[in-house]
Amino acid sequence: MQSFFELLQNRRSIRKYEERTIDDTLLNQILTAALMSPAGKRLNPWEFVVVQERETLQKLSDARPAGSQLLANSALGIVVIADKERSDTWMEDASIAAHNIQLAATDLGLGACWVQIQRRERNEQQTAEEYVKELLNIPAQYAVLCVISIGYKNEDRKPYDLNKLDYSKIHHEQF
Ligand SMILES: Cc1cc2nc3c(=O)[nH]c(=O)nc-3n(C[C@H](O)[C@H](O)[C@H](O)COP(=O)(O)O)c2cc1C
Repeated sequence: MQSFFELLQNRRSIRKYEERTIDDTLLNQILTAALMSPAGKRLNPWEFVVVQERETLQKLSDARPAGSQLLANSALGIVVIADKERSDTWMEDASIAAHNIQLAATDLGLGACWVQIQRRERNEQQTAEEYVKELLNIPAQYAVLCVISIGYKNEDRKPYDLNKLDYSKIHHEQF
């Protein structure tokens, strides 16, 4: 079993997937990980829309002109949304939940990738968020942060090389 440190090292964005569905037991573990995410004031503004229907995944993949197409071939997408009226830290809270989903998927041997929806355009007339909200019938007060695409890996990505990390990002005592 990999340690938590190895999990972080091995997590890479996986954008190519096998044509294979994900068992409910694995999906439930991933969703359980999401529900254990910390949130400001424990207000838990996040909610999750699990999309497994091929036709809907295909439509979701069209949310942006680039960057979202990988969803078409994923086994499922977890749309991470948050109630903006519930908490002013909804974006931080939802981001943590999205990352927990990615880490849980990696831990289970699956591949995952974050597809950004918030603050992205679909075209000149419509934002990616408006498109996803309409497609999935999401109420107005919710923001759509991202979709985490998940599937069995069909590409190999190298783990992070610890010798190549940018330690200049770290400052001690003062900047
Ligand atoms: C906030 C955020 C938004 C991202 N949006 C996308 C996206 O829309 N499409 C995509 O293919 N990858 C997206 N990614 C994945 C990044 O490109 C990826 O994490 C980065 O290149 C580092 O690679 P790694 O995840 O393999 O370590 C996003 C990642 C984050 C954290």
